[in-house]
Amino acid sequence: MSAVPDAAALLAWYDRHRRRLPWRAEPGAAADPYRVWLSEIMLQQTTVAAVIPYHERFLMRFPTVADLAAAPAAAVMAAWAGLGYYARARNLHACAKLVAASGGFPRDLAGLRALPGIGPYTAAAIAAIAFGIPAVPVDGNVERVTARLFAIDAPLPGARPAIAAAAARLNGAPEAQARAGDFAQALFDLGATLCTPTAPACALCPWRDGCAGRRAGTAATLPRRAAKVARPVRYGAAFWLTDAAGRVLLRRRPPRGLLGGMMELPGSAWRPAPWDAAAAAPMAAGWRRAGEVRHVFTHFALRLEVFAATVAAITAAGELCPLDALDAAGLPSVMRKCAALATGSIYPHPARPSDRRR
Ligand code: ADE
Repeated sequence: MSAVPDAAALLAWYDRHRRRLPWRAEPGAAADPYRVWLSEIMLQQTTVAAVIPYHERFLMRFPTVADLAAAPAAAVMAAWAGLGYYARARNLHACAKLVAASGGFPRDLAGLRALPGIGPYTAAAIAAIAFGIPAVPVDGNVERVTARLFAIDAPLPGARPAIAAAAARLNGAPEAQARAGDFAQALFDLGATLCTPTAPACALCPWRDGCAGRRAGTAATLPRRAAKVARPVRYGAAFWLTDAAGRVLLRRRPPRGLLGGMMELPGSAWRPAPWDAAAAAPMAAGWRRAGEVRHVFTHFALRLEVFAATVAAITAAGELCPLDALDAAGLPSVMRKCAALATGSIYPHPARPSDRRR
């Protein structure tokens, strides 16, 4: 295996080119564990660009971990709405309660790892960035940088353990140990800004000379990925029902499972083949078809036929939300798309973040 590249060269590059991010401390300043933890939970499967406005809004609404712990679950879910992967928001809230009750974040890997929503990657990132513990957090960026440095060409996901083992060797030098947080963030920034997925800027890279992937001419193709299986498709209907007072019928999903605890439009079951889902309408109401919404979840793609109707009074079970309060209701992205289609407005939120952070 190739030699480990020079940590000091990466740190010197980071000192010149580091990104300014809302959760990042200024050079020489101590990082705030609450901000760091919040960012790492949000960055799980979401891009940096998508996370920044959410992180800022969370800090305004919940300035400390104690504020977040004390907030009602519905307020946390509404603030999270649009980020996806709603189990993360539930774990975030549970974690905030435990941390607030014990007076602060644990300052070691094992203690962090024991908290809800914190896996090995997140524990390593928080430990390094917030507490200066020399750990190498292996996210998609670090995986890519490492696979290229050592020219690991076995495909993902099988190659993951080998890549993680190689990444763990990157911070052995005293400079990396002494600046654990900067070293981890330098790896993130290198992956996000130079060692990018399809067109790495090797000429600008502080590690270009020691990179086996670059020498072999394969850097841009690494890491390789096993062929993907196609996502199955599910089909259903969603119903936009308004009353004469300008309110729309919403309901809350069960607390567990996909979109657990989030608000939604009433709808049908989601089935693996097209079917007559319109029959699941909450009331007989002169439904008109508004169109089809497509949305991709991790394990399946969803096609929802959206139907709209207005009645004098809504008798079906649910919550009646005034249309001008819809933004604050915290609809997840798929439901925002349905609402936009039914009302003829442009979908007002950024496209769902992709599943790779940069
Ligand atoms: N990706 C994951 N964590 C990150 C961080 N702290 N800074 C930049 N990118 C990241």
